[in-house]
Order: sequence, then C-alpha cells, then structure tokens
Amino acid sequence: MTQEITLLRPDDWHLHLRDGAMLQGVLPETARHFARAIIMPNLVPPVVTGAQAAAYRDRILAALPEGAVFEPLMTLYLTESTDAQDVAAAHASGLVKAVKLYPAGATTNSHGGVHDVDKVMPVLEKMAEIGLPLCVHGEVTTAEVDIFDREAVFIDTVLDPLRRRLPELRVVMEHITTEEGVAYARDGGETLGATITTHHLIINRNHLLVGGIKPHYYCLPVAKREKHRLALRAAATSGAGRFFLGTDSAPHVDAAKEQACGCAGCFTATNTMALLAHVFEEEGALDRLEAFTSLNGPAFYRLPANTARLRLVKQDQPQSWPEKIITEAGPVTVFNPGTPVHWAVEA
Ligand code: NCD
Ligand code: ZN
Repeated sequence: MTQEITLLRPDDWHLHLRDGAMLQGVLPETARHFARAIIMPNLVPPVVTGAQAAAYRDRILAALPEGAVFEPLMTLYLTESTDAQDVAAAHASGLVKAVKLYPAGATTNSHGGVHDVDKVMPVLEKMAEIGLPLCVHGEVTTAEVDIFDREAVFIDTVLDPLRRRLPELRVVMEHITTEEGVAYARDGGETLGATITTHHLIINRNHLLVGGIKPHYYCLPVAKREKHRLALRAAATSGAGRFFLGTDSAPHVDAAKEQACGCAGCFTATNTMALLAHVFEEEGALDRLEAFTSLNGPAFYRLPANTARLRLVKQDQPQSWPEKIITEAGPVTVFNPGTPVHWAVEA
C-alpha cells in the first residue's frame, strides 16, 4: 500500500554550503527540497562582516540552478573583534538572520572563533536589544574535557551562565546531541530553540566505531550513546516548538574525510527529507514531521512558514540515492543510513 504525506516546504536551519566549486556542486541538493536555509559562515576566511555576508549571498544566488526557488538566510561569524554596529546594520537591512558563535577550536574552521565570552558581550547585548538570534556551537574545547562530555559541560559552564546574564538574548542551541541538551532546550523558555540533525537521529557512536572507523559518520558534535539518540528522537518527534531541523549537512571531499586526520561533517542534503520520513514513521509521528521541518523553525525565527508544498511517498521498493555527489572540487559521499528506506520526495 502506498503511503504519502504532504508538508509545507521545509527549511534547513543549519547548513554548510561552502564556496566556489563545492557550493556549485552541493547547492542544488538543498535547493531541490528546501525553500530556505540558515547558511553557516565558517568559510576560509569566515563571513564576519555584513559586507562579506552580502557578497556570499550573491555568490549563493549566482550558483542556484535555473528555476530554483531558494532563499539563503545569512549569518555572521562572531569574533572577538566583531563590530556591534555592523551586526545591527546587517540585521536592520534584512540581510542577516543570526550570528554564529563558535568556541575557538571547536570544529571545522573555528580557530577565529570566541575564546572569551566577555569580549563579545557588547555584540550580544546589541543582539538581545534588536532580537537577533545567536546560534551556538555548544561544545567546550578544553583539552581536559572528554569529547563525549563537551556539550553537557558547555551547557553548565558557558550557555547557562550566559543566558542568566543576558536573559533577553534569543539563542539557538545548534545540533544538540545529548539528553542534557534536550532537557535544557525543553525547559529553556521561549528565548531558546534547538536544532537537531538528521544523522544524529539515525546513528549513535557504535555506528561510527564498531567494526572499523567510518569516516563518513564522523561529525561534530560527535555522535553519542544510544540513550542520547533516543532522547533526540523523542524531542524531534514531540512536535514541541523548541525543536526544529538543522541538517548541519557539511560537505567535505572524500579525500579530506578518508585520511589519517579526517574532517568532521556528514553530507545529508540529498536524502534528509526521505530519511526524516523514515524516522518519523518509525516513531509513529509522521503527523509531526511538518512541525519539525516546516513550522517550528520559522516560528522561532519570526518568519512566515512557506506556502509551497513537498510530497513524500512511501514506495514498495527501498529507495536509493547516488552514493556520491560529483563536484568540481571532488566527490562528496552522501550519508548512508545503513538501513533500507522506502520514502522518497516526489519529483
Ligand atoms: C561542520 C563543518 O564541516 O563545517 N562540521 C561538522 O561536523 N558538523 C562544522 C560544524 O557545524 O561543527
Ligand atoms: Zn554545522
């Protein structure tokens, strides 16, 4: 029996598009299904100023395939020398929808990020005043803290103190991966949102490490224990407005992932919507998929929901996707859920 579901067109509230040949190669994968995406600013060099965000936005629009309808929602990369007035102007013009805080050294291209939150308080105070959200990569980077504990420690030692100091600041906990993250986001009041990736709903750390290391399952924050994956599934499928999709689709060419020191990032833009239908069906929550992908994010960002629709159909046969996207920068492996998936987006 065919099953189908129609959703308002989804948005991706955390996406890496990169630049140049990689941008050209991966953008169609997102634009095919998503109406808008929050574009991460961790380019080399990072997107720090309003002028840089405007130029990056133009490069994204120029790379769109003919006929595609897709709106990039730009972000700025917060540094200790970010100018609060520039941020405010970029927000007032409608260009910038969020500012991204990377603790220095936390992830790909984050060395220019923030060492000391005190140094960025003037910018954060301005953002609180104008209602501009702060997207947070929530992991401490101190060598003594185990990589599997970095999110929980960040919540206690950085995020919660910051939110007590500046309660009006609107914050998105990006790509939460733990039950601690879920609990904090759930109880955080209406100034707090949290994105959840597709891959963290599917893999736990065993998938990454048992039977040989799987570089294409390595991302940051790293996948955690099974109990955390289950907490993320419960949160995503709950329908609660706090939680929305941010795929964190993060393309790296295979050569950069399959090496002695491989890059972090899973590339899920191609099959995310089908995988989410699979996950939500498994959880008996297909009727809440639209809240997660298409309603809760716009509500948090104070944007209208999309009006166009996207239809997903469950097929008798397992569906397949290209194993890799071929870009002029090199091949990029598409996230493999490791289980048959019968859902597909209707063309
Ligand atoms: C991201 C990237 O490659 O830019 N990698 C990842 O594993 N998620 C950076 C990030 O979001 O942490
Ligand atoms: Zn990311």
